[in-house]
Amino acid sequence: MSDPDLHPLISAASRGELPEWAAVDSDRRTHLESVARLMREWARTLGLGGRDQKRWAAAAWLHDALRSADPRDLAEAAGEYTDGVRHGPATAARLEAEGVDDDELLGAIRHHTLGHRRLQRLGRYLYLADYLDPSRSIDSPERAELLARLPDGLGDALRMVCARRIAWQLERGHAPHQDTVDFCHQLSGPGE
Ligand SMILES: [Fe+2]
Ligand SMILES: [Fe+2]
Repeated sequence: MSDPDLHPLISAASRGELPEWAAVDSDRRTHLESVARLMREWARTLGLGGRDQKRWAAAAWLHDALRSADPRDLAEAAGEYTDGVRHGPATAARLEAEGVDDDELLGAIRHHTLGHRRLQRLGRYLYLADYLDPSRSIDSPERAELLARLPDGLGDALRMVCARRIAWQLERGHAPHQDTVDFCHQLSGPGE
């Protein structure tokens, strides 16, 4: 059933129905389903209402909607980013063009790979859910412990995931993106 308060595309995505322009292979769909289930569960545990639960699930279903899109289209839509991180900003731009004006949700999708200082609550949880996806094998006790505690322990989880992402880049000889460095720095600051 569609929700009159939500953009039809967001309402459909909350049920796992992706827009016709999505480019998602079957492995990716498993990831999306798992991340969406986790996000909905966290939203419910945090006491958010039905509308927000749908927004959180929709953001999860949509975050990688253009993951397998034609690289030329992604370069055109988000050429200021390097290959591999363009699908987030490209998806956010497409949703905006379709009339979606939910800034928290758009920011969550735009910055889900690199993180960003301006991520709001939905985006901070999506950043974690994308990384901690329970459908992937749990590779460390630390990761299992974070998953078991969340949605409590948001700050600790963000610091760990941000640091892991930076370490992953450095190990491969890549300079971490400034957005990620700034985000990590913010998370390590007072009050976080
Ligand atoms: Fe992604
Ligand atoms: Fe993802």
